[in-house]
Amino acid sequence: MYYSEDIIEEVLSRNDVVDVIGTYVHLTKKGANYWGLCPFHGEKTPSFSVNSNKQMFYCFGCHKGGSVITFLMEYENLTFPEAVQELAARSGITLPDIKETEEDKRNRNEREQLFEINKAAASFFYSVGKSERGKPAREYFKKRCLTEESIRHWGLGYSLPVSGDLYAFLKSKGFRDEAIAKSGLVNFNERGATDRFWNRVIFPIMNESDKVIGFGGRVMGTGEPKYLNSAENLIFDKGINLYGLNYAKRSGKKFFLLCEGYMDVISLHQAGFTNAVASLGTALTERNALKIQKYVNTVYLTYDSDGAGTDATLRAIRLLGDRGVTIKVVDMRPHKDPDEFIKALGAEEYQKRIDNAESSFYFEMRIMASRYKMDDPKEKSDFYVAVAKRLLEFTNELERKTYEEAFAARYNVDLKKFHELLIETAQKESPKRSSYRNYENAERVPRRNLEEPAGKKKDDLINRAQRLLLTYLSDDPGLYEKISAHLAPSDFTEGIYRKIAETAFATISESGTINPNMIVSLFEEKEEQEEAGAIFNTALPGEEEGVERTKAISDIIVKIKCHSLDRQMDAATESGDTAAFTELLMRSKEYRDNKVRIF
Ligand code: CTP
Ligand code: MN
Repeated sequence: MYYSEDIIEEVLSRNDVVDVIGTYVHLTKKGANYWGLCPFHGEKTPSFSVNSNKQMFYCFGCHKGGSVITFLMEYENLTFPEAVQELAARSGITLPDIKETEEDKRNRNEREQLFEINKAAASFFYSVGKSERGKPAREYFKKRCLTEESIRHWGLGYSLPVSGDLYAFLKSKGFRDEAIAKSGLVNFNERGATDRFWNRVIFPIMNESDKVIGFGGRVMGTGEPKYLNSAENLIFDKGINLYGLNYAKRSGKKFFLLCEGYMDVISLHQAGFTNAVASLGTALTERNALKIQKYVNTVYLTYDSDGAGTDATLRAIRLLGDRGVTIKVVDMRPHKDPDEFIKALGAEEYQKRIDNAESSFYFEMRIMASRYKMDDPKEKSDFYVAVAKRLLEFTNELERKTYEEAFAARYNVDLKKFHELLIETAQKESPKRSSYRNYENAERVPRRNLEEPAGKKKDDLINRAQRLLLTYLSDDPGLYEKISAHLAPSDFTEGIYRKIAETAFATISESGTINPNMIVSLFEEKEEQEEAGAIFNTALPGEEEGVERTKAISDIIVKIKCHSLDRQMDAATESGDTAAFTELLMRSKEYRDNKVRIF
């Protein structure tokens, strides 16, 4: 903590969230909230809300949210202490000197230095590309049909076939060897300093906030490696950033086009598809998925049409699908990738492929079917089992039912017989505690999936339940008694949920009220603040959906309780404590069989 909780509380109480945000965003009062156009993603109708009671903001479009501190961190790109300082200055509060540790300072300086070096390097490569000596790069860009405008928009540049150029430039700008070495743009060895990029066209890689964090360099012709990327460091994290995200997030489109390569992204943007992004030369990661979900709920996969592209598509479907993202697959055949497709057939044809994109479930079924010999009875039945296993992974019963029917219809399978196979498969798949873990409640069926750790989807449901409960509680602290009769903070998932539950439970039991913006401000990382902000702003099921409030809250409490009991049962099994296991099982059964009255 840089500042004490008292100070943060003081700063928050003297800076009304509506006043402060109102100086940046035009807000109009409607109902309990103030509304405006979200400054963090492009939109034409307001989904950005500011709540005066909670002293928090939340965007229902891009899911950014948090306290007034979070807002400044995001909007002005400030660190936590900087945002606190700015708010203190606005409201005439004198802050004590901050206690930044030596390590904090070193890390902050190192990050800043890395940003500066990358920025300097980007302008260097760009100007070399524009210079007399940059002719090979310009010819290459021309060959690849890149316009002048695209070259400028993406800051494309060139590294000459002489080594030490960049190094000399960075030295002339006053950077020290130690910092240059950390950037990974120059290698130091006994023979001296050599530039990492040599005779390559350069693609600067920007983060969400338009800052250059690294580079991809492509050989102009054939050679290995085709693309060479910056080495990872404090600011360049390939698992989280996405190429083109800084532009795509402002595209105003409700979905992203996810492709494989830098050139695909650039070609798509050039053709008007400004919502295209790509991961940075690695397979899509969970953290990439999170990043994407910050902006959109729908993704069109437009990966390469070859075998590797198909595998990557299947993987992305799992990763994004498990997080609740809607996925469509765009067919690039007969061309290799979006870049080649657009060059051969043009933007209009590409748009048609988007319009005709296949839903990810049908894509998966089609690919699975192609991997079995359907005229061989054994293989055919193996195929059905494989489909059944896949279907069992859907935790939403309605969704699974829909797909079950869709599959049966499309592949001419008897629905009743297939349903029997599904039940049989479920039972085989979950021998553990199968006495009460039956298929009809698929949510409880442990998933067996070789590629990914099981239970991820279940985690999503539990996370959502926890978010909803904390939102209900912050809207109506009177619920505390009912909730705390069944749940302790330790029943929440470790990490952010538990930390929030601990603080929320403690403040309510002490003062009878809850201060969400204070709780959010206990987290210093922007990501954590946003997550915490989102937790308190989960959209509650409305009356228009016919959901009875007390019933909804009871269900959520039961869900969280059962999940916690499940975890405790796993622990008891592990330690061989049969007595504890039986006790937990009984309690869990009571909750599951609705024998516990909550309201
Ligand atoms: N890539 C990489 N390192 C390599 C090869 C590829 O990091 N040695 C990454 C790059 O981000 C590249 C993406 O993987 O953009 C896709 O690679 P590939 O399909 O081989 O290339 P294309 O995108 O088709 O590139 P180009 O059109 O320039 O040939
Ligand atoms: Mn290509």
